[in-house]
Amino acid sequence: MHRRLIVPSALAATLLLAIPASAATSSPGAPGIGDPYYPASGNGGYDVSHYDLRLTYQPATDLLQGTATLLTTPQQPLSRFNLDFGLPVSEVRVGGRKADFAKEGDQELVITPAAPLEKGRPVAVVVRYAGKPSELSIGGWTAWHRTPDGGVAAQEPDSAVWWFPSNDHPLDKATYDISVAVPDGTQAISNGVLQSQSSRLGWTRFNWRSNRPQASYLATLAVGKFDITTDRTADGLPILNAYSKDLGDNAGAARASVERTGEVAEWLTGIFGPYPFNALGGYVPNVKSGYALETQTRPFYSPRQFANGANVSLVVHELAHQWYGDSVSVDGWKDIWVNEGFARYGQWLWSEKEGEGTAQELADWVYAQHPADDAFWTVKPGDPGPDKQFDLAVYDRGALALQALRNEIGDEDFFAILKGWPTEYAYKNAKVGDFVAFAERVSGKPLAALFDTWLYEPSKPAAPAAANARAARSESVAPQPPASWKKIAATNSVHDHGH
Ligand code: TRP
Ligand code: ZN
Repeated sequence: MHRRLIVPSALAATLLLAIPASAATSSPGAPGIGDPYYPASGNGGYDVSHYDLRLTYQPATDLLQGTATLLTTPQQPLSRFNLDFGLPVSEVRVGGRKADFAKEGDQELVITPAAPLEKGRPVAVVVRYAGKPSELSIGGWTAWHRTPDGGVAAQEPDSAVWWFPSNDHPLDKATYDISVAVPDGTQAISNGVLQSQSSRLGWTRFNWRSNRPQASYLATLAVGKFDITTDRTADGLPILNAYSKDLGDNAGAARASVERTGEVAEWLTGIFGPYPFNALGGYVPNVKSGYALETQTRPFYSPRQFANGANVSLVVHELAHQWYGDSVSVDGWKDIWVNEGFARYGQWLWSEKEGEGTAQELADWVYAQHPADDAFWTVKPGDPGPDKQFDLAVYDRGALALQALRNEIGDEDFFAILKGWPTEYAYKNAKVGDFVAFAERVSGKPLAALFDTWLYEPSKPAAPAAANARAARSESVAPQPPASWKKIAATNSVHDHGH
C-alpha cells in the first residue's frame, strides 16, 4: 500500500486499475436491504440505476424468456451480491465476464463475479432467464395473474421476483426500458411511454420507456388482447389506456372510469402540484383478483371493481398514488401511511368537490363507524406491522389523521403542505417522521402530539374538538353515510392481499 504513494501518479493509476480489490478487503453484499417488515426484500452492497429488459412471452404456454441488463454501482468492494428473482437463470455476466450464480431459497439469486467489484465503479450485470411465472409460488402467494390470453405482473409489496431480477425494494429506484415480444394480435402493456412497436415473423415487439425513478414493485407487465385508447393531457402528455377485449359486462363501467384519467390527473395537479411523470393511463386486464395497484404512470385495475358501475373514486386513489407513493415512496414498508393515508384522503377531497360529502363528513362517518372496542383502533397507521400493512385502518384512520391536521392548522397551511410535500421529496423516499417534520415546518406549529394520537395510539382517540358537535349529532340521528361512501369503500374491500 505504501509503495503507491511514491510511484508517479500515472503509473499509480495503472497499478490501481490492474490490481482488483483484494478478496481480503471485499465482502459479500447483504441478502436484504434492511427492511424489518420484509428482511429478504432488496439487497445490500450496490445500487441499480437502470433496468433494460428484453423479453419474449408466449401466452399459450406462459413461457417468459429474456435478458435483463442492470446498470449497477457497488457501494462497497463486493466479493458477491444478491439479486431478488424467482425464475430459472441460464447465464449471468458481470462487466462482460461470466459469473458464478446459485439460487438460494425461493427468491435470492447469489452472484459471484470472476473478480471482486470495486466500490463506486459502475458495472453492467446481465441475466439470461426463461421460465413460467405461474409456476412460482413464494410464501404461498403469487404476483402473476394468469389470464386466458396472457398474464399480468402486479402486486404489492413485491412483484418483480416473478418476472425480472432486481434489487426489490423502493429504496433503490431506477429507470426502465421494457421491451416485450408477443405473438401478433396480442399486446404487451407496461410503464411510461410506448416508444415504438414493430412486427416481424409473427411476433410484435412493444418498446416501453419509464424514464423517471421507479420502484421495482411499480414496474408492471400485462400481456393479452387489449383495446387501446390514446389521448393527450392539456399539457401534452400522452395518455394510453388498455382494456382487455374480454371484460364482459364490466367493459362499459371500466371505460367510463379509466377514461377519466386525464381529467382526474388535472384536478389532482391543482392539489398536489405538477404531475411527476411524463405519461399517464391505466389498464384493465381480465384477471380474477379484486384489487387495483398504482403501477407507475399506468395503474392496474381489476374488472371486478367495476361490477357495480363506474368508480372514478378508485381512479382518484390510484392517480393520487402517482404523487404519494410513486414519486415520493416509502423509506421502509412501515411508512405505508405516506402512501395510503393520502391516496384515501384524495378520494375524500374528490367527494368534497363532487358534492357527495365533505372530508369532514367522511371523517365523522368513519369515526362513528368504529366503536371504541373495534379492533380497527388497535392498528397503528404509522407502524402497522407487516400483517396489518394494508389494513383498513391504514387507509381510513390514516385519512382521519389528515383531517385532524387540517382542523388543527387550517386550510391554507394544510393545502400548502399537500402541495409542497410531493415537490420536497420528489423521486425520493420518506418516513412518516419526515412528514410530521415537514408539516411542523410549513405550519410553524408543534404537531407531534396530534400525530402520536392519530397514527400511533392503539386505541380510539377522543373526537377532535372541531368534530365534537358533529359527532354528537351523528350519534343522535340515524347515521347516514355520505353519498360517496360506497364507492370509496369499494376501493378497499380488496385491500386484504398483504404478504
Ligand atoms: N396499494 C394498493 C392500493 O391502495 C392496494 C394493495 C394493497 C394491493 N396490497 C396489495 C394491491 C396487494 C395489490 C396487491 O391501491
Ligand atoms: Zn392505495
